[in-house]
Amino acid sequence: METDVKKKIASLESWTTRLSIRELYAEFGSPFWIVSKKQLTQNVNNYAAFTRSNARILFPVKTNPSLAILEVLAELGVGADCANRNEVDLALFAGIPYERIAYNGPVQDVCLSTNLLQKGAIVVMDDPDAVLEVQDRLKGRQFPGKLWLRVNPNVKIKYEKENENQELMSHASASSKFGIPAEEMVNFVKGLKMPVSGLHVHVGTMMDNLLSFHNSMAGMHALAQDLNAIGHPVKDLDVGGGLGIPFMEGDEFPSLEYWVEQMNPLRQKGYKYYVEPGHAIVGNAVSLLVTVESIKHSRNRRWIVTNVGTDQLAKVTLLRWPHRILGPDSKPLPKGGTDAIAGPLCFAGDVLMQETDAGGIEIGDPLLITHAGAYTFSLSNRFNGRLAPAWVLMDEDGFQKRMNSEGRYDNIFLTNYFYGLRQQTEEGEERVIPKQKIESLSSGYLKKLACQDEFEYLGMTKIGERTYEIDVMTESKVDFISMPFAIRIFGDAVIVTLLEHLGAEKKEVPIWGRKLNLDCFGQVKTGVPVRLRVSFSNLIKELNGTNTVIARFETECWNCSGNLVIKF
Ligand SMILES: Cc1ncc(COP(=O)(O)O)c(C=O)c1O
Repeated sequence: METDVKKKIASLESWTTRLSIRELYAEFGSPFWIVSKKQLTQNVNNYAAFTRSNARILFPVKTNPSLAILEVLAELGVGADCANRNEVDLALFAGIPYERIAYNGPVQDVCLSTNLLQKGAIVVMDDPDAVLEVQDRLKGRQFPGKLWLRVNPNVKIKYEKENENQELMSHASASSKFGIPAEEMVNFVKGLKMPVSGLHVHVGTMMDNLLSFHNSMAGMHALAQDLNAIGHPVKDLDVGGGLGIPFMEGDEFPSLEYWVEQMNPLRQKGYKYYVEPGHAIVGNAVSLLVTVESIKHSRNRRWIVTNVGTDQLAKVTLLRWPHRILGPDSKPLPKGGTDAIAGPLCFAGDVLMQETDAGGIEIGDPLLITHAGAYTFSLSNRFNGRLAPAWVLMDEDGFQKRMNSEGRYDNIFLTNYFYGLRQQTEEGEERVIPKQKIESLSSGYLKKLACQDEFEYLGMTKIGERTYEIDVMTESKVDFISMPFAIRIFGDAVIVTLLEHLGAEKKEVPIWGRKLNLDCFGQVKTGVPVRLRVSFSNLIKELNGTNTVIARFETECWNCSGNLVIKF
């Protein structure tokens, strides 16, 4: 009997307790997110035992939009649930093709919906006016994509354990803003000329009650039958996400294996089943490594203050869901005690663990915040000007990929500086500056010498699936690589590596950069060989023949780095 109970309840144990937290800190510093490819793969495989195909698992990008995660899911053949155009872009650049993208937004962009249907994507809608507008725009033309309707199911969606956040989490409750009410669906669809091929229900989030999924499935089957009877080929049923996961000792949720075991017998012949799990796919696959920055004593409490707090882990305060925290010895900090773990923000609610015994933890020690994959990074905020941590992807053989942290000057408030439009100057009137004065203020290097800068390639090596190293010799009248020179060198290195990557023999097509981000905070000397690294995103191929790719480039010590969006 005991094994049965274990299987029904999701375990809190995970890959994290086998990590050496001190070694990780020594290798990658802090803070950074660490993603376990193995855990992600296992979660996907578990869901596929219900959907029978990875492609019918649509990962909600809102849960965690990191490319470190999306690229693994793309590789596994998983699809994406996207709430808007930006999330569609992220999915595409991660390598998820249109056929595996479902667009389901609370505000339905009619233009995007029409476009995506024509590109073969799934569009999930629940705003009848928007559906009719898409129908008008398509003018009776056939489209390769699929139109699904989101249902507000009018069945009992109930949490097993009462909790104060229920209203915030019940997406399919009768009072929620989502879904066409089930009782109005047939009438609405009767008036449609476009074929409806699927239905969608998302019961809510952190659901602990399997009965809610059963009721939702029964409601969808009944409705699908009614729509089939009026001539709509409803064959796809998306049961949404919603399965909750434990964060701390004592949290009880059905295990994913048990969910699948209970849902499988409800399948009916003739339908394809889709899921959109957020928490249950990434929740336990991501952890956050932080360090202790200070230790303060106040009354009888010892405050352990870390370098990341509710800027990345807002849910700890928003929904009062604390995470399990492992100490430097990889053992969980106990519940209860006179110590508290707090973040670095000017906010009294910035507390990651209220009561614990942090033992001999000292300043500079690393801690690991576990089960931190869902709605953490995606809900992160800029309070106190905090910046996003780096990412590390861990695969079976160790560490595979690293994405740098957000830099000080990546902050949009600094990079999108403001213009003063025509307004009073200090002297009270506008002042015209004479042309001669402009000339005398202008840079001799930029106006004259920059065009004498020269570079020559010494060699090139492919070092990863989409990564190249290219050595260049440079010469300049100034003895460092200036920004305009960097644009030329990196721009051309990106073109060369991209064409090689695509198997071209010669540069025969025009390739133009469309957007550039360039950091030259460290100086790179000219007159000595420089090694550049160039890495590409997946290529997005549009139906009209254009391609878009993002290239990341950097010199060896990141003294000069950036990214370039290219279209060709
Ligand atoms: C439409 C939709 N599908 C899936 C999800 C994922 O939910 P969960 O993370 O609870 O599985 C959400 C989350 O809000 C959602 O809005």
